[in-house]
Amino acid sequence: MNIHLPLALLLLLLLTACSPKTSPRSSAGAPQKAWWKEAIVYQIYPRSFKDTNGDGVGDLKGIIEKLDYIKSLGVDAVWLNPIYSSPNDDNGYDVSDYRNIMQDFGTMADFDQLLSGLHARGIKLVMDIVVNHSSDEHEWFQQSRRSRNNPYRNYYHWWPAEKGKPPYRYSLFDEKGDAWKFDSLTNAYYLHYFSQKQPDLNWENPKLRQEVYEIMKFWAEKGVDGFRLDAFQFVAKDTSFPAFPPGYEKNFIDYYAMQGNIHQYLKEMYREVFSKYPVMSVAEGAGRNFDDAHALVDAHRKELNMAYAFEGVDIAQYGGYDLLHFKEVFSRWDSAFAHDGWLSIFLSNHDQARLVSRFGNDSPAFRDASAKMLNTFILSMRGTPYCYYGDELGMTNIGFTRIEQYRDIAAINGYKKARSEGQDMALFLKKLSFQSRDNGRTPMQWDNSAQAGFSKGTPWLPVHANAVGLNVAAQEKDPNSVLQYFKKMTQLRRQHPVLVYGQYTLLAAQHPDIYAYTRQLGDQKVLVLLNFSAKPSAISLPEAGAVVQTLINNYPEVERSGEALTLQPYQAVIFSLGSN
Ligand code: GLC
Ligand code: CA
Repeated sequence: MNIHLPLALLLLLLLTACSPKTSPRSSAGAPQKAWWKEAIVYQIYPRSFKDTNGDGVGDLKGIIEKLDYIKSLGVDAVWLNPIYSSPNDDNGYDVSDYRNIMQDFGTMADFDQLLSGLHARGIKLVMDIVVNHSSDEHEWFQQSRRSRNNPYRNYYHWWPAEKGKPPYRYSLFDEKGDAWKFDSLTNAYYLHYFSQKQPDLNWENPKLRQEVYEIMKFWAEKGVDGFRLDAFQFVAKDTSFPAFPPGYEKNFIDYYAMQGNIHQYLKEMYREVFSKYPVMSVAEGAGRNFDDAHALVDAHRKELNMAYAFEGVDIAQYGGYDLLHFKEVFSRWDSAFAHDGWLSIFLSNHDQARLVSRFGNDSPAFRDASAKMLNTFILSMRGTPYCYYGDELGMTNIGFTRIEQYRDIAAINGYKKARSEGQDMALFLKKLSFQSRDNGRTPMQWDNSAQAGFSKGTPWLPVHANAVGLNVAAQEKDPNSVLQYFKKMTQLRRQHPVLVYGQYTLLAAQHPDIYAYTRQLGDQKVLVLLNFSAKPSAISLPEAGAVVQTLINNYPEVERSGEALTLQPYQAVIFSLGSN
């Protein structure tokens, strides 16, 4: 007996390893668990969440006031857009002091209270770290521009004008599209990939890098739980600034992302910061291709935890999008990360228009159903879901029609650039109305009172007219609201690890209306069905024959007879399947 026991064990192990039922990842062991894989992240744009002093701008006290609401959503972490001191050329993405709180938003005491209030509720906090550039009003830049031999000169990229004009660099926010700005004080140009007021920091300078790690440690010491690295894929540059081929700006990512020593810098950041504190890390952007994305986040590389890739969110453009394309992109990313690395799942953020207006249908008849359906998608995919404030209600695009209505520098300078190029400005405004970032930044809709309960003053961006019926108070009372459904969906994800770690398999790839997939973890298996169209749609799936239970449904019923199903417009349903 004593001899047979180990032998039997060995046999059992061998059998398990070879069993066709095990997922591919099982060969390397069970999926590596981590809190940031299991977390549902709620993204808050502080400027637009809740204003407590009537100046029309959201503030930290406002977020503190709403902590119980945030908790009620069933989310595990909050990602805050930048709250540091800033002249707000780009709403806080132009930082003038990384260790202070923006006056509009409050004080460090407010911050400490917010952090402890979140932690008291078991919610983690992810901070936005904006270090591809600073504000031109940051002390470093003020010093840097003063003279060519100032100790801070090399914190930024300067091109002496006696060498002539520097080779063209494209700027995302500049009204002329030019990333070099001449500064007569020292007869030199400085580089700004974003606005003129966002000079790029020189990551090739080890002193600058140390400054950044110290800033990150400052926040980590305070107890923050993670960092989102803004525009980080652009930080490393070839400082000889070679000429790029004409027209390169159409594919500027290929020239700007993941250059030079970026991986050495990330490994250094890992050693200096990530390895010393229990924080998660996610970079905005995932490079030029899968190899880049893996190089950022594969665990053995000791760089970052999770990729945040844009191919999915970029699909919906003015004029619509194709569901087959949508399925193909999300499936391709999933399979590329089936074994190593980890993804973020999102369809909106502060740089995007509202999810229901872009990917769903914001007409009164379908707004709620499609918002529920899209939230089902985000919360049932493999990857960490990022839910943007207001999407839990189905908030929609504000759809400005005149350029004077916009506040976003990208819209305003983009308009100037297009006009100087002689573009069709009527078409430009239509596209902007659909995709502008301001669509996703209008004030949170709390209740039926003036300014939707966001502010007692005049909000910095107008409240959407639909706030009268579409708001938190109304939806908390309505058992069929988008909000109540959202809470059920977060609960479902928390209760079913299969929705976090389970293997994803696309079904009926060619079905034009319905996105169908299974998730499987061990013998737990679920079937997700999402009708992305405004009409009833039929599908037949062998998996539907194994349905055991309906886990969630955004309609009262689902029409199913054996393997055949008909989904109502924007219907979303998740079934648990028998293990046969
Ligand atoms: C990132 C931010 C965006 C900002 C830009 C410059 O893309 O998400 O809001 O404008 O970086 O910091
Ligand atoms: Ca305020």
